[in-house]
Amino acid sequence: METSEPRTILSAEKLKSLLIAICGPLGFSLSFLPIDADNGSPAVIVLPDFGLAVAISGPATRRAEIEAVVLRVAGEIAEQEREASSLAEEIMLRYEQLSMLFGMSERLGGAKDNPSRMRAILDTAAEAVGAEQGCLVVNGRDVCVSGGGSDAAGLRDLARRAIEQMKPLVDERRHLALPLSADGVTIMGGLALGPKRRGSYRSGDLKLLGTLAAYSSLLLESGRLYEDLEQLFFSTVQSMVEAVDAKDPRTAGHSQRVRRISARIAEQIGLLPPQVKRLELAALLHDVGKIGLPDLILNNVNPRLTPEQWELVKLHPQIGVSILSHVNQLSDILPAIGQHHERFDGTGYPNGIRGGDIFHFARIIAVADSFDAMTMERTYRPTFTREQAVAEIRDNAGTQFDPDVARAFVNTEQGPDA
Ligand SMILES: [Fe+2]
Repeated sequence: METSEPRTILSAEKLKSLLIAICGPLGFSLSFLPIDADNGSPAVIVLPDFGLAVAISGPATRRAEIEAVVLRVAGEIAEQEREASSLAEEIMLRYEQLSMLFGMSERLGGAKDNPSRMRAILDTAAEAVGAEQGCLVVNGRDVCVSGGGSDAAGLRDLARRAIEQMKPLVDERRHLALPLSADGVTIMGGLALGPKRRGSYRSGDLKLLGTLAAYSSLLLESGRLYEDLEQLFFSTVQSMVEAVDAKDPRTAGHSQRVRRISARIAEQIGLLPPQVKRLELAALLHDVGKIGLPDLILNNVNPRLTPEQWELVKLHPQIGVSILSHVNQLSDILPAIGQHHERFDGTGYPNGIRGGDIFHFARIIAVADSFDAMTMERTYRPTFTREQAVAEIRDNAGTQFDPDVARAFVNTEQGPDA
């Protein structure tokens, strides 16, 4: 890899003025020559850092002293200029790092999963150094971009070697790879980039990509943890739904069917995908309060509950809210669970609220719940046909059901997917 040369911002003019100011009062006169005019005369001092030579004339007795002064002054100025150049480079690198991280943050704004995050990281890296091809490998999965004629397999292989060897690599085709790590120990993946559009990789590129690699590995790690947590959350929800099914085997699968019907209604109404997801969660959990009811009631083969038993059953929406109120991530859907047996005309339970006072999700779940209850296999009463159940929903629009929701449901049943 090439090393970065200090940029030449050395000031020959500054040196000349300083030397004349120092040497003149001591009785010496100086003349400055282009460096290639040096004829090897011992009276000339060559200063390569400044691209010039200095011819000195004056008292011979102090000549050695004055030569030492010239060399010392030239050395100090050259050192100052190198420091300034290095500082300018450092500032430029920091600016490039910040602008790269800012660009990546913008790209990551729309990335909701790890493959999208990987693509954002790869695009940022390629853009930062001016490469057209690259591959990012994380947990055996890879994302590649090719600028035409790219060797994706070769880049993937180089990224994997950087992971294995835990260090940056450059191959004979001027491809660069480095491991993604924040601490140099935990390797989250490997990034390989094709040749730069202009020039070769320099140490500044590697520093820039090192910053990106450290930041990216943290992002990918937090993304993975988030996905693990989300998976754990949905597994827990699934376990709760299965617990309800196990409690009342006659209604097994009811929660999942209510989820699917609710989602169809929501899409017909035009709810946005994130809202549909929350509604599906609420629909899955709407009867979770049945976990708190005595088995004797749920497994009662007698279709007629006593008034006391019926009062107990009517508690299940509130029991559901009570169970789930400990989960912060579900606070927004608790009203859907607590109000799914309210009726549009105010004759439902537990609170007899009506119309628009009933949470929107609860009005949707109420339709889906009733439809599935009507069409579910029963041992003690005839099951409605699908058409009969749809007619029931339509006939009870405005009394039991929100008319808009009922209409949307009927539309889903009459649509091509019904
Ligand atoms: Fe219910």
